[in-house]
Amino acid sequence: MRTYKLALPAMISAACLALSANTMAETWKMAIGDAAGGTQYELGERFAEEFKKRTDGKIDVNLFPNGQLGSEQDTLNNASMGMLDLSILAINNITPFSPTVGVLTLPYVIQDAEEAKLLTQGDVGKELTENTIRDAGVRIVGWAYSGCRRLTNSVRPVSSPEDLEGMVIRVPKNEIMIASYQAWDINPNPMAWSETFTALQQGVVHGQDNPYVTIDAMKFYEVQKYITNSCYVFSLEPLVIGEGKFQSLSPEMQATVLEAGQAATDHSYDYLIDQEEVIKKRLVEEHGMTITEPANNESEWIAKASTIWPKFYKSIGGKDKLDNVLKVLGREPA
Ligand code: MLT
Repeated sequence: MRTYKLALPAMISAACLALSANTMAETWKMAIGDAAGGTQYELGERFAEEFKKRTDGKIDVNLFPNGQLGSEQDTLNNASMGMLDLSILAINNITPFSPTVGVLTLPYVIQDAEEAKLLTQGDVGKELTENTIRDAGVRIVGWAYSGCRRLTNSVRPVSSPEDLEGMVIRVPKNEIMIASYQAWDINPNPMAWSETFTALQQGVVHGQDNPYVTIDAMKFYEVQKYITNSCYVFSLEPLVIGEGKFQSLSPEMQATVLEAGQAATDHSYDYLIDQEEVIKKRLVEEHGMTITEPANNESEWIAKASTIWPKFYKSIGGKDKLDNVLKVLGREPA
């Protein structure tokens, strides 16, 4: 009995300490547009791990994949207004709020992961991050590299733009992408990402475009049969934090966010290099999709889509911005 009397107060105070440590732990929310299993989720999960480790377990990041917290464009707004801590979304869904990032979604500019890394992790990426803080109220602290956007549809194999005749193709609510489809003489249907699977399933639209990893993560193979091995835009998917939230952090904590973001970015790049071909194979062999090569090395697609570049010089901040990107990539000016 005597033992119990001594042990009980100690047990109670230990329980109180544990409880207060728990209540002190902070939780941040991260919205993720894609379902778990793709490059967005890999980036988010790695960020959460690195951040927890670097804050000695004081901050947990809870992930909400598959558009649970709203469409990608909504989550950007929410982060900007301080109603959400973090969001991972495709860059094409940032462009309407911060038009200069459109230079990275002009058709046939970025052609592979190495080019994407060179741009996002160099001076171009720094400048676009500053512009996005100014224009959209969010700071880019990490990048997911998801691969080229490939056209999928449920109707027939497509190798030339004419093969799309009669089909309705979902596109993001992004002027550059809408104009690209119009250049191919296709009537695009601009639609939020969070509504796309259902629209494909119900036949409201016949096709869409996104990278192999995204087609797989979103289980589009359940509602799409044909893939065109196109590469009209390289899909970049930034991790953003509301700028108000970022500025409310101590300098040390700001540095920790950026370090965790860089570690997650490095992981995302390695993940794409390791997994893209594996996933492409799985889409064919396990999920029965058919991949068609674009006719004549995609030349007709490229020639038509590239005609839209001048229309967007003003919104990206001038032709010089595109020429600078092309120079970094070792190409001739536009
Ligand atoms: C879109 O098509 O709206 C996005 O690129 C999809 C995504 O975030 O993966």
